[in-house]
Amino acid sequence: MKIWKTIIGIITIASVAFPVTQAHALTSMDKQDGGIGNTTHYMEKNPDIAADPKVKNIIYPLMATPAIKKKGSALTIQVDTKGKDPSGWNVKLNENSNSKVEGEYSLPVTKAEKGSSYWKNSSSIYNVTVSIPNDVTEKLYDLDVSYTADGAQVKDEEPNSVKVVNDFKKDFRFIHLTDIHVGSPRNIQDPANATEAGMWNPDESKRWLYLQKTIKEVNLLKPDFVVLTGDLMFGQMNPKEYIYEYEETYRMLKKFDVPVYIIPGNHDFYAQDATLTDGAKYWGEYFGPEYYSFNYGPYCHMVGANSMDWDKFDRQGHGSLSVPTWGGQIRQAQMNWIKKDLEQNDQTANANQVKGLFSHNNPVKRDREIWPSSDPDVQEYWKEYDAQHNPQNLSTLLKAEELGQKYDQLWHGEGAQELVDVMKQHGVSFSLHGHTHTDNITQQNGILYTTTASIELSATPWEGYRTFQKDPDSKNFNSYIYEGTDRSIPVYENGNSAAGTVSFEANLAQPNDGTQGAQTATVTNRLKKEVTITVPLYMKPGTYKATDGEITENKLYGTKQWMELKVTVPANSTKEIKIQP
Ligand SMILES: [Fe+2]
Repeated sequence: MKIWKTIIGIITIASVAFPVTQAHALTSMDKQDGGIGNTTHYMEKNPDIAADPKVKNIIYPLMATPAIKKKGSALTIQVDTKGKDPSGWNVKLNENSNSKVEGEYSLPVTKAEKGSSYWKNSSSIYNVTVSIPNDVTEKLYDLDVSYTADGAQVKDEEPNSVKVVNDFKKDFRFIHLTDIHVGSPRNIQDPANATEAGMWNPDESKRWLYLQKTIKEVNLLKPDFVVLTGDLMFGQMNPKEYIYEYEETYRMLKKFDVPVYIIPGNHDFYAQDATLTDGAKYWGEYFGPEYYSFNYGPYCHMVGANSMDWDKFDRQGHGSLSVPTWGGQIRQAQMNWIKKDLEQNDQTANANQVKGLFSHNNPVKRDREIWPSSDPDVQEYWKEYDAQHNPQNLSTLLKAEELGQKYDQLWHGEGAQELVDVMKQHGVSFSLHGHTHTDNITQQNGILYTTTASIELSATPWEGYRTFQKDPDSKNFNSYIYEGTDRSIPVYENGNSAAGTVSFEANLAQPNDGTQGAQTATVTNRLKKEVTITVPLYMKPGTYKATDGEITENKLYGTKQWMELKVTVPANSTKEIKIQP
């Protein structure tokens, strides 16, 4: 979601004509595709592109709902055998695609039995419990499951779905980012933004730089996990658009080297064109459940809610118009699930556990309550909206535009107050949101509601994300405000995306491929605060020292030695660190 003015701008791009300023930036783009950008190159690579569902047999853990498990503990995997009787279970953890070494661990199966799923309608779901050996290195892994069914071998792999840890930390740290919007044409009339967007550039390394740079920063920060609150893509221009965007987004998200918990936003869930190609259907095929919860060991329980819980006809968003129903809603079935989840958690939670919720829309910002009901324009807007609840009704949208940004829609439908009540009842103390592309902090009735700016190039005050550092001695978090009263950490230097310069980075002088016997890392921090980062190193086998920081991991894989260099760099400074025998 973005302010009305920009949305009206997009209406113009898609349906009427290119305004002069935007025509300049879009000259090379294929206008016939509805304005989603230069998909021609992508189509040349994949001329008969079709959706390629990623969620097949493994339904838990998934890339979007990973498991974080301590070595030596048990993990219960859920597998849908699609009507077949399975036998001969074989479960492994493999090095993920970000790793430059080969390696796998076999996970002994201790139990396999029929199970069920709250989100996947299938009568052939199996709960397969494995134990995680004590010699597994602390890393994020791909999960590899195979079994025999009807005499044939079935194999499924789910990337980045299992993080093995040595221990859970009382002072854990996570990052919240939101609204990454792969495929978004917004605000690219500025040539600097056009470069940073890299709309469908045939060179994959130049596409969505705002996101790729963010992922690099997040990997360097190496939090215990990441929470991503929706609007992963754009989804508003073209009936075929989701095929590209779900594929592309999935490919981009695989570049994270930390576990990422993902829930949907309005742009992931539009139902496009007359056939209502449904974003929600793609979600199930690429990312899995629309809502769920997870634990970070005994220290944190979090509920991921789907605040785009609307009927399909209320989610129409193809072509020139947006829907009035991009404001939040949680209907009764999901609300009941959330209540049950928190009740069950209450029975097992220890005193140290902190509870959080994350959703795209923020439940304490409800437009029907915020908008002044005595204002005749507001009365007229709701009269029109309620009388003709037609998502494609332009007059309703134009009326909202006249009302201006202060009448922004955040929570439009059912469930806001009930969600807040349920959170209070179960001691949920923090709540993470996106959708408005602006930073905001609201403390209300003992709950910290944080809204974080977007990663897409339309954020206010800048493209940013937040780190939440848990205080080991209380249930509070520190560091979620970078400066002022509510600001996130800027992705770009001083929040200015024009030069494309990131807030911090690490560069290596030599190839990082296991062939070097010495290495130099240059780490530059352009933030106003110190930053501690972790750099993965692949060296020739040997014993190494670093001239600054600490080598925190060290393991030989064949002819390559993998290490991690952890180093703290003060504000506005650069460090050169030599790694040598
Ligand atoms: Fe958004």
